[in-house]
Parts: sequence; structure tokens; C-alpha cells
Amino acid sequence: MKALLTGGAGYIGSHTAVAMLEAGHEVAVVDNYYNSSEEAIRRVEKITGKSVSMYEADVADKSKMKEILAGEMPDCIIHFAGLKAVGESVEKPVEYYRNNIDTTLTLLECMKELGLGNIVFSSSATVYGEDNIPPFTENMPKGSCTNPYGWTKWMQEQILTDAQKASAGDASGGSAGLSVVLLRYFNPVGAHESGLIGEDPKGIPNNLMPYISQVAVGRRDHLTVFGNDYDTPDGTCRRDYIHVMDLAEGHVKAAEYCAAHKGTEVINLGTGEPYSVLDMVKAFGEACGKPVKYEIGPRRAGDVQDSWADADKAKELLGWKASRGIREICRDAWKWQSSNPEGYGK
Ligand code: NAD
Ligand code: UD1
Repeated sequence: MKALLTGGAGYIGSHTAVAMLEAGHEVAVVDNYYNSSEEAIRRVEKITGKSVSMYEADVADKSKMKEILAGEMPDCIIHFAGLKAVGESVEKPVEYYRNNIDTTLTLLECMKELGLGNIVFSSSATVYGEDNIPPFTENMPKGSCTNPYGWTKWMQEQILTDAQKASAGDASGGSAGLSVVLLRYFNPVGAHESGLIGEDPKGIPNNLMPYISQVAVGRRDHLTVFGNDYDTPDGTCRRDYIHVMDLAEGHVKAAEYCAAHKGTEVINLGTGEPYSVLDMVKAFGEACGKPVKYEIGPRRAGDVQDSWADADKAKELLGWKASRGIREICRDAWKWQSSNPEGYGK
């Protein structure tokens, strides 16, 4: 199949491009490089020995998107493009709602006008909110989000679900019988095993694994662990850390499923295995051959104590299951960070 990846030069998109190409699919990418670099796509081509059609565009620019989509006519769109920094979304809610919601509405309009039917969307476990108790299953009610970024995911899920519902009753229109797959990611981490592509956050990382990596490589002095007084075995929060290449392979299966079915499916992409902050600190120290320096600090506002997936639906529906553990996650994150201490150097 031919897949068009919006935001395909970003962290998860670039790894998914590798997995799609390796599975024998064609890939086109649309990105405005707001949070990424063209270099990531060059490296995708280097890893796979295959070429990617690249378009520099804002996915919310309807006339440009329509032209690109009309030229490509992809079998499936995988919609990664979006702003994703939780803290920044609290400072700049309007920018977050504008960018994340507009890109989705624009894609749906273009799809309807061009008769394109299949879309896979990057959602997040954040939509489970604070009140559900893990493991999270897809049929739990969505919860209340603690920040605008989370709400954009919540709303985009709703918009896509409503558009699908309407299309099912519209047998004459171009988008009759849309196929929508909403993928709820848990905590994507790690890098491609080559060390050529990986996560390259701008400025001070907000997320745990990039922060640990930068401490290990000497760019930061120490990690602050946000609270060790939670009701968990070591007092620190637990998460479901999923290797980005497992996640990428999950997208290949999801895109293939999406192109072959109609309707809306919500699918968790996680491992089902929780690890604490201190588990990750220890595993990273083992991978890089020296302990990662850390201090205990106060809790971070908005953190949930526990989050992990029930990963059964992905296994049943897609035949997909994560195969890499925290050892591989830390090994590959370290390979990427140590061979690219300044990321892509943009
Ligand atoms: P990323 O920032 O590395 O990738 C997003 C890409 O989208 C970037 O290349 C950026 O330049 C591009 N982009 C943003 N707005 C755009 C626009 N209007 N037009 C064109 N391109 C645009 O982020 P990522 O970690 O790869 O995340 C991909 C998707 O997965 C996002 O939607 C994110 O919210 C979602 N997600 C990520 C995580 C995570 O932990 N990384 C977890 C859950 C969900
Ligand atoms: C965060 C976001 C979530 C988003 C996800 C993307 C918040 C509240 N949640 O999830 O909406 O979908 O990123 O991956 O921001 N930690 C430290 N020290 C650090 C950084 C993190 O101790 O410097 C701890 C956190 O308290 C948490 C764990 O590490 O317990 C993981 O944190 P992080 O990587 O930011 O992911 P989430 O909080 O799960």
C-alpha cells in the first residue's frame, strides 16, 4: 500500500516510515519541520535503502494538502502531525487547539473531497484521565484531561469518530464508509537499533527518557525524580514504556487493518508491563555502563501515579504484540544519544 505520514519527519513518524518501508509499503511524508528536521528522512532512506516522497507543508493548509493528497492518493493516511508538549500547551492553549484540531479537520475535508477513506490517528493514553484504574482497556470511558494537549487528543478522537459515523450512512459521498483507527500510545521511548534516528527534543526535555539520556551523555548534571512518596513498591510512578520500533510495527499492522475494514477502532499500543522511574534509571545505567545521577524532588503537577495498557485488543485485532523490553529500550536510546549527542544538530 501507499501510506502518507503527516508529521512523518518527527520522532514516531520517522520510525514508522522505516517499519512501513521494511514491510514493503510506499511512504510519502508531509511535515512543516516545526519540531523536526529533514535529516531524519534522509536517515530513514539510508537505513532502508528506499526513497520517501517528501513534502514541506502545513497540514492545516487546505489547498496545499489537497494538491499533495490528489497527487499521491494514498491508501492510508497516518496522522502524526501535532504539537505535543504538555507544559507548553498550558501556556499556549489556543496554538495547540488551532494546530491539532485544524490539521485533523483539514485532512477530513480533503479526504471527503478526494474520496480517500482510511486514516490512522496518533492518540494518547492521556485520554484515560485520572480516574480509571490500570490496566486501561479501550472500552473504559474517556476521562478528564489535565491539560490542553490532552484535550486536543480527546477532541480529535471525537471528531474522527463522528466523521466516521456520518460517513457510514452516506453511501453516495466520497468518504462513504470511512475507516478510522485511533491508536492510544502509552510511553514511546528508545530509538532505531542502528542509532541513526531517535528522539531529538528541543530545549530541556520534559519527558523522562530523553532527560535520562542527556544526563548520561553529560548534557545535564542530574535527573530530578518527581516524587518518591507514591503508593508503589519504590514510591515512584509507574508507566508502560514501549520501544518506538515496536510502536512503529504496530502502525504497520494498524494501517493494513485500516485499509481492509470500515468503522472506528480504538486500540492501545503498549506492552502491558509497568516500570517505575527508578527501574528506568537503573536499566539505563546498566545500558550505558555508569550510574545515572539523580535527586528526589517534589511531585510534578498533573502526573498520575500509574498508567499501563491492557494490550490484548492489539494482539487479537492486529496480531501485534511488543517484543522489546526495557533492556533493548535503554540500549538503543543510548546508542542514538551517544552517537548523536546533539541530536540531528538543527
Ligand atoms: P514530534 O514532534 O517528533 O512529531 C510531530 C511532527 O509533526 C513534527 O515533525 C512536526 O514538525 C510536525 N508538525 C506539527 N504540526 C504540523 C503541521 N501543522 N503541519 C505539518 N507538520 C506538523 O512528535 P512525536 O513524538 O513523533 O509524536 C507524533 C504524534 O504522536 C503526535 O501527534 C503526538 O501528540 C502523538 N503522541 C506522542 C507521544 C510521545 O510520547 N511522543 C505520546 C502519545 C501521542
Ligand atoms: C507525559 C504527559 C502525557 C504525554 C506523554 C507523552 C504529563 C503530565 N503527561 O506523560 O500527557 O502523553 O508525556 O509521552 O506531562 N519524570 C521524572 N523526572 C523527569 C521527567 C519525568 O521523574 O525529569 C517521571 C514522571 O513523573 C513520570 C515518568 O517519569 O512518572 C514519565 O514521565 P514522562 O516521560 O514525562 O511521561 P508521562 O508523564 O507518562
